[in-house]
Amino acid sequence: MILALETSCDETAAALVEEDGTIRSSVVSSQADLHARYGGVVPEVASRRHLELVVPVIREALEQGNASLDDVTRIGVTRGPGLIGALLVGLSAAKALAWARRLPLAPVDHLHGHVASLFLEPGPVDPPFLCLLASGGHTLLLDVQAHDGFRVLGTTLDDAAGEAFDKGARLLGLGYPGGAAIDRLAREGEPTAYDFPRARVPGLDFSFSGVKTALLYTVRDLTPKELERRRADLAASYQRAIVGALVDRTRAAAEETGAGRIAVVGGVAANSELRAALPDAALAPLELCTDNAAMIGSAARFVEPVAYPQYLALDAYATSS
Ligand code: KG4
Ligand code: ZN
Repeated sequence: MILALETSCDETAAALVEEDGTIRSSVVSSQADLHARYGGVVPEVASRRHLELVVPVIREALEQGNASLDDVTRIGVTRGPGLIGALLVGLSAAKALAWARRLPLAPVDHLHGHVASLFLEPGPVDPPFLCLLASGGHTLLLDVQAHDGFRVLGTTLDDAAGEAFDKGARLLGLGYPGGAAIDRLAREGEPTAYDFPRARVPGLDFSFSGVKTALLYTVRDLTPKELERRRADLAASYQRAIVGALVDRTRAAAEETGAGRIAVVGGVAANSELRAALPDAALAPLELCTDNAAMIGSAARFVEPVAYPQYLALDAYATSS
């Protein structure tokens, strides 16, 4: 059984995952409330909170899985990309556990983890497939041919899709993180009320800075009263522009690569309009879309574990090479 840890951003998470991809337990402690008053994640605050939470969250995962450290055969941990200080808390905890229990350690790439959220029981989705990974930090189109990796076909040239949702939510006064709030409010609005632009970047890349700026200018020209009245229409139109761009590029990539199957993962994969717009796609279950450790445990199954003492030299990385 794999004990997996995830601390790359503002979720402290631990999970127990079996070799066949069965989730024995998955505990996610979100710090979102802590960061809300700053309108975004404050790295140093996140690191300190991870430090307070990591041991209780591991204990909780063992308890919920009805297991003890004696049942664990391998440690999996997110090594990057993410906030360095936050990552180091999880990585240090993982090294300490591996050393204390004489276990091998599997260092996991966070993006590989999101893809591997599809490999879990029940109903695993196996490669090959074309994968849209849309989260707060990344927007990627990936060619996934095997369980242990992927090839990047396209990426965002500026903001990530989730970041665009979060910045839009802030402009609309919906708090942080705002993706889910826009999703909810958009249901009461008219998606064609505003014609927000869709970036025309070449190839299979994305750009979301234009739509964000368009929303900024639109909101700036409204009185507080008008904004109140049009908020749902703005949310619906803004969401339509982002989801439309994601769906267009994903379908284009599928056509270009001849992919027989489309999959969507990452926090933005929780978006109801996106899920409805890709009815034929394999979608990660809602609780596995946003950051969690079960997906890290899943990916760890396909990573070469590192033995003692080599894993002590493992470092975290902020961005993917
Ligand atoms: O994957 P994730 O938990 O963290 C990163 O690795 O970045 O993704 C978080 C992002 C946030 O930007 C959040 O606003 C967005 O996913 N998100 C959503 C929804 N739920 C979460 N965006 C749109 N609609 C949602 N329902
Ligand atoms: Zn993530």
